[in-house]
Amino acid sequence: MVTYIDAGAAPYKNTGVIRLYGAEGFEGMRKACQVTALCLDELVTRVSPGVTTEEIDRFVFEFGMDHGALPATLNYRGYTKSSCTSINHVVCHGIPNDKPLREGDIVNIDVTYVVDGWHGDSSRMYPVGEIKRAAERLLDVTHECLMRGIAAVRPGARTGAIGEAIQHYAESERCSVVRDFCGHGVGRLFHDAPNILHYGSANEGPELKEGMIFTIEPMINLGRPHVKVLSDGWTAVTRDRSLSAQYEHTVGVTAEGCEIFTLSPAGLFKPGIQVPGDA
Ligand code: MF3
Ligand code: CO
Ligand code: CO
Repeated sequence: MVTYIDAGAAPYKNTGVIRLYGAEGFEGMRKACQVTALCLDELVTRVSPGVTTEEIDRFVFEFGMDHGALPATLNYRGYTKSSCTSINHVVCHGIPNDKPLREGDIVNIDVTYVVDGWHGDSSRMYPVGEIKRAAERLLDVTHECLMRGIAAVRPGARTGAIGEAIQHYAESERCSVVRDFCGHGVGRLFHDAPNILHYGSANEGPELKEGMIFTIEPMINLGRPHVKVLSDGWTAVTRDRSLSAQYEHTVGVTAEGCEIFTLSPAGLFKPGIQVPGDA
């Protein structure tokens, strides 16, 4: 059974109930998510061949300090970095290190800042120099998956409508949807109920209600959907070593549909594509 609760009345732990946030929560999330979006914008010109993911991570930490924002991943379940940097066949949770990025790489940078207790979670893909046509296509398909998932959000629909929209489009483009990781409720907590699956059917999952806040963050592969986690306990890679991509937004359900909190102020979320509502 699904239960919903006024966010202000619930304890700060994931008990499986779905929190409903009011105006104060939406305002708090706007602020946190805009710091995250601004940081991801700043990274556009900083990602290039020769730069290390450790340097990117240091920028994310410093940017947070300069903006009153704490990286939520620092010391999260033993994770010790301010970002995740997932290159090529890495699906998610890549750990920043001292290896330089190379021309042709595609890297996902995932940042979550906590501002005044609110969590702003977003990630984008960054091409390193010139990338191959197949990689370019994967980025286009994955971004379109995210936007179609977002378009399915409205009160009265089920969470499964998001997954169905994403899976249908990904598979129509001969790509596959990773099943092992999902989007999540977010707000006062980093990872909260409900889970947002990126596959499935519109008649599955809890009903969406105004005031719910969650992420949508599809991971899409050029090859098969299967992943494995490396011995570091974090890095998830495609089993067939095919390229993988991911885009993530934090959204809040409104009476009409949803508000995207992590839009790029400069229209840089997916360069070349203008999202309605972007500056
Ligand atoms: N930001 C990721 C997400 O979208 C979670 C990263 S947790 C970490 O949910 F520990 F791997 F950093
Ligand atoms: Co997330
Ligand atoms: Co994230």
